[in-house]
Amino acid sequence: MRQIADLPDLDFNSADYVAAPFATLAAHGQKWPLARSARGVEILDYDLCRKAVLDRQLGTGHPKLMNVLGLPEGRPLNYKRQSISFHNRGPRRRDLRLPLARLMGPEGTETFRREVDGVVQRVIEAIPKGEPTDLIETLCDPTPSAVYCYWMGAPFEDAAFVARTSHSVQKVHTRNPEFAEEIINAFEALIDFAEARIAACRAAPGDNLLTDLIKAEEAGQLDEDDLRNWVIKLAEANTDNSSHQIGIAVIELASRPEVWARLGRDPSLVPAAVREVMRYHPRTISTSREAMEDMVIADVAIPKGTPVFANIGATHWDERYYAEPETFDIDRTDEPPHLNFGGGIFSCIGRYAVTMEVEQVISHLATRYPNLAVEDHGFTHSPMFTSVSRLVARLQ
Ligand code: HEM
Repeated sequence: MRQIADLPDLDFNSADYVAAPFATLAAHGQKWPLARSARGVEILDYDLCRKAVLDRQLGTGHPKLMNVLGLPEGRPLNYKRQSISFHNRGPRRRDLRLPLARLMGPEGTETFRREVDGVVQRVIEAIPKGEPTDLIETLCDPTPSAVYCYWMGAPFEDAAFVARTSHSVQKVHTRNPEFAEEIINAFEALIDFAEARIAACRAAPGDNLLTDLIKAEEAGQLDEDDLRNWVIKLAEANTDNSSHQIGIAVIELASRPEVWARLGRDPSLVPAAVREVMRYHPRTISTSREAMEDMVIADVAIPKGTPVFANIGATHWDERYYAEPETFDIDRTDEPPHLNFGGGIFSCIGRYAVTMEVEQVISHLATRYPNLAVEDHGFTHSPMFTSVSRLVARLQ
């Protein structure tokens, strides 16, 4: 059996990774199923990643993440400790997820399709037409944060606050203590927001997700803290990830005029196109776990406490799983599902909702703006995420 020290190094700061992240990860993955990086052990093979996200010996990586950031005692750390992120497999995690998994599962998501579509259309209406516009400001951030406001029965004026705080709290994944203060301040603001929102919604219930969550609490499925923590967690997980994935989708699809034209003529192709975007250029490059006990992965001894990363980015560009993976092809069939949303009992709660949201954005843009021109864009790829750093486009 081999040890972690025997594994090849994977350097996320290398020129190769910066220039061509997915090709670089896949090239490693085709040679070695595992590698070691500055942050822990990287799993680079599709089947091993699928196994890892379901593996009972691998638990949440969030407690270690908070240690790395050095978050002090206080409301934000308490929130984190109580929230779903700190819970490992077991009845408590299952019970916490259950109401959300129901409300945001495939059927639950259908119940708010029409309203989400209305939000998407409102946001698109407000974008300046025929001139260059910063789509991060006018589309990517406002769409998911306004959807969150709809879910929470909040006024749409709160969307900018939601987007800003979500971007800040997601900086936990940078593992950089320099961001600790920004993260704490954003969590403090989100905690206040959640408490005020719940009180307002109790006083005036509506036809929205928060009212349904309050009903779940009243039925004893969640306690008061769980309810508050879910309101915060949804803001935390929703806006930042969805904003970047919307930007990636617009860039990858609108920059290919033949694909954009096909989508405009036949929007029934949009779900396949969005699936291909999430394979070819996923927001999620890796998802974190920690070894709960001494264990073995691919004949390598992994001691208890080791941070382990399912490196989804490597698997999506592996030709053993996807034919010509570097080719963007919305007509792919019979290939394994993408892993953009992780898996198992830790999988993304919002995956159906956000997939629907991205599809609606693309359908409306492709049908109404067949000549949409991406004039400038930029990406950054951390070990964890793809981020859209610039996106200027002209809607025409
Ligand atoms: C395209 C946008 C999104 C991406 C790429 C994404 C990706 C992910 C990933 C990779 C995980 C971890 C899965 C794992 O470790 O196995 C996750 C967890 C989670 N996501 Fe998302 N997500 C997105 C949008 C959303 C939205 C819209 C929501 C809620 C409305 C949401 C709520 C959550 C929650 C609550 C968790 C934690 C689940 C748990 O610990 O049990 N996400 N997401």
